[in-house]
Amino acid sequence: MAEDGLLSPDFSLKFLHKKLGDDERSNTFQSVALVIGVTGIVRNSLAEILPLSDTPGGPWKVYGVARRPCPAWNADHPKQYGDHERPKAFQSVALIIGVTGIVGNSLAEILPLPDTPGGPWKVYGVARRPRPAWNADHTVKYIQCDVLDEKDVVSKLSPLTDVTHIFYVTWAARSNEVENCEVNGAMLRNVLTAVIPNAADLRHICLQTGLKHYVGPFEAIGKIQAHEPPFEEDLPRLDYPNFYYTLEDILFEESAKKDGLTWSVHRPGTIFGFSPSSMMNIVGTLCVYAAICKYENKPLKFPGTKVGWNSLKVASDADLIAEQQIWAAVDPYGKNEAFNISDGDVYKWKHFWRILAEQFEVEYEEFDEREEWVSLDEMMKDKGPVWDQIVRENGLVPTKLEEVGVWWLADLTFGFGDALDSMNKSKEHGFLGFRNTKKSFVSWIDKVKAYKIVP
Ligand SMILES: NC(=O)c1ccc[n+]([C@@H]2O[C@H](COP(=O)([O-])OP(=O)(O)OC[C@H]3O[C@@H](n4cnc5c(N)ncnc54)[C@H](OP(=O)(O)O)[C@@H]3O)[C@@H](O)[C@H]2O)c1
Repeated sequence: MAEDGLLSPDFSLKFLHKKLGDDERSNTFQSVALVIGVTGIVRNSLAEILPLSDTPGGPWKVYGVARRPCPAWNADHPKQYGDHERPKAFQSVALIIGVTGIVGNSLAEILPLPDTPGGPWKVYGVARRPRPAWNADHTVKYIQCDVLDEKDVVSKLSPLTDVTHIFYVTWAARSNEVENCEVNGAMLRNVLTAVIPNAADLRHICLQTGLKHYVGPFEAIGKIQAHEPPFEEDLPRLDYPNFYYTLEDILFEESAKKDGLTWSVHRPGTIFGFSPSSMMNIVGTLCVYAAICKYENKPLKFPGTKVGWNSLKVASDADLIAEQQIWAAVDPYGKNEAFNISDGDVYKWKHFWRILAEQFEVEYEEFDEREEWVSLDEMMKDKGPVWDQIVRENGLVPTKLEEVGVWWLADLTFGFGDALDSMNKSKEHGFLGFRNTKKSFVSWIDKVKAYKIVP
């Protein structure tokens, strides 16, 4: 029991088996059969065969019609009369803003699962671009909408009157932090002012920000006195513009307008996840870099500094972040609080570098501190045509190098030292989820390959 008596272990136990839950992905039906005369001699066989897992055209949902009550000899066909698949009443309705992003995609995958807390969930997902194929098998109502465009937001999001929970996992990058505050603030306010007055049952808003809450925005690195790690949630704000502060203030202000509406803020560090649409995806970026090294038959050089190679780091698994947000959305102890969210593990790039080399069967190269620092952003400048060739030759999902390789992020990640946070508050409030970061790293690499983003 935590000292404040807040521990609610039930929730984390539920997630314990889900966190490896590849085999639990939602099983959307490809076909729906209506068998008229389901107890007849042929149609009884149809009722038995259609629901089998390997029946062509499947997975099948099957409705069966007959005049008399369902006889016992017909009653054990799994989906007879649709008993097991009858549409369940939704308990909660999620609106994910940024559904194709690195955490948005995890939320879209986890929320519709049958045993997700707070469920069954109906899920709306918003992004600007058309829905990518790699996101399309999640059971989500996809809405193309630019949340920076107030008119677009009003016309597309204010009609969503059944929304009970908002998951805000998006952002915009501008050339300086003052502009970031303006633009990101406008995006969040557009969403909240369109949804809050119209969604009568809206209960909770999850806002994702990050550890830059404690160190300042990218432009301030080295210029201002940041907090010293390990970061705890109640550290005071820094005296420097930060769009995370703007977002929090808007969240507090708008949610106070509706009785009983609660919020939570989630602060990850470097996220390990899957999304070729993400503006910051370090695992995807590394996969592309390794694939290029392999194609050009060059060793996998570490494009960073001695500090970046040797220091202890923490990562935040995207599924784990989604799990913490869902926990906060439904658990009373997650309300009206900010939480750090990281794996509960530490790693060094010097160890993960060999793993990356092995995953792509490319020659591993030990970091040599006598060599001059190489910027990956520089190294990759002329590699666009090489990437196009790799995509063509391997039949990959068509992408441009600048979409899937976020080189400036790699330069930052490998150039600096520790940004360790504390997970004590989250655990004390009852979220006990964790990840083994090495396994997380490998599993996201596997996913990038499985979706044919890299060879
Ligand atoms: N990624 C990380 O490693 C990391 C680490 C720590 C903190 N964070 C923070 O986490 C927060 C969320 O970032 P993220 O990295 O999870 O996001 P992300 O992966 O870059 O995804 C952004 C999502 O929002 C959509 N989007 C962007 N602009 C939009 C707009 N105007 N209207 C509607 N949809 C829009 C994108 O799709 P379209 O482009 O198709 O619209 C995408 O689905 C940010 O505050 C970020 O600073 C991220």
